Amino acid sequence: MAPHEHAPADAWADHVLEVVTTGMESLAIHLGDRLGWYRALAADGPLTARALADATGTHERYAREWLAHQAAAGMVTVTATPAGPVHALPTGAAEALTDPRSLAYAAPAARLLAAAAAQMPALLEAYRTGGGVTWDALGDDARWAQADGNRPWFESRLAPALAEVPELHAVLSRADARIADVACGAGWSTLALARAYPDARVTGVDVDAPSIAHARERAEEAGLADRVDFVLVDGGSLAGGYDAAFIIEALHDMPRPVEVLDAVRQAVRVDGAVVVVDERVEESPAPPGDPFERLMYGYSLLVCLPDSMANDTTAATGTVMRPGVLRGYAADAGYSEVTVLPIEAFPQFRFYRLHH
Ligand SMILES: C[S@@+](CC[C@H](N)C(=O)[O-])C[C@H]1O[C@@H](n2cnc3c(N)ncnc32)[C@H](O)[C@@H]1O
Repeated sequence: MAPHEHAPADAWADHVLEVVTTGMESLAIHLGDRLGWYRALAADGPLTARALADATGTHERYAREWLAHQAAAGMVTVTATPAGPVHALPTGAAEALTDPRSLAYAAPAARLLAAAAAQMPALLEAYRTGGGVTWDALGDDARWAQADGNRPWFESRLAPALAEVPELHAVLSRADARIADVACGAGWSTLALARAYPDARVTGVDVDAPSIAHARERAEEAGLADRVDFVLVDGGSLAGGYDAAFIIEALHDMPRPVEVLDAVRQAVRVDGAVVVVDERVEESPAPPGDPFERLMYGYSLLVCLPDSMANDTTAATGTVMRPGVLRGYAADAGYSEVTVLPIEAFPQFRFYRLHH
């Protein structure tokens, strides 16, 4: 947290250096994640630097420096042995950094920051000119970090959360229900919906070709390809006879959110359900923000706003889409009412139901 506004320059300088230190620790987490160092420590630790380098096909001198950094940062423990210092990853850290099925899995957040940092020249240019940096330009690290970060939440929390809302659960449980997952990304939510509602046919749509290709492979692997399909199309082109549609953590990215909401309204039966899931930010800004609000503004600066700005016509929403902004989009798209569903299982998301 920044110092008090009347704090002396030294206190501000300390704060800036602390922030930079934390930023570098985030990039060090990314190194450890991508180079397999955390996974090796979790599986086979405690390890010397030599053993870590050998196990991961990396260079011993870098492994030694990274381990020393991680020890200084309190991320690994160090024990002196006759073979030299050995390093271990605490159990909780191992889960947060290496277990893709855990709700505590946080390594993807560091990967998303690294993906954005790699685009800094393009970001600076966009900030000067009003241009943008597309989701595609942010690349695979951003794409799969997004997917991996949300996956455990969809797999373990989505089905029970929806089942707790009787009117919605009834729509989704209809015989031969058709469900759309608009802006499905890698498709983990689409597959979770299909597992939760075995009578449903679920269609994921997205404009990102690698995400759709990945999602199709996952559907095959899961044995769900007979009733789950993935289509490379803009959500603004959605058409026809759905019982329900979801837009999960994506409306704020869309350059034309009203157009997409309007298409979704027309594609979903009037007795169906439209659900927008988006960041659980405060109703209005109240600086200084809490850690979640600060994280969301960080994503907005580096990822979501530049992506949305990379279009000639754009609402330029940003990650921090306040409930009032969503209500305005919904009204403009012809919905009569927006209600917030009583779903508390996702501390990061608010579930909005948009009524015809
Ligand atoms: C932050 S990701 C969220 C993906 C996924 N729903 C999730 O929760 O992990 C945003 C996604 O929106 C997609 N997207 C953005 N605008 C879109 C549009 N107009 N139609 C369909 N997909 C869109 C992007 O390609 C990207 O996959």
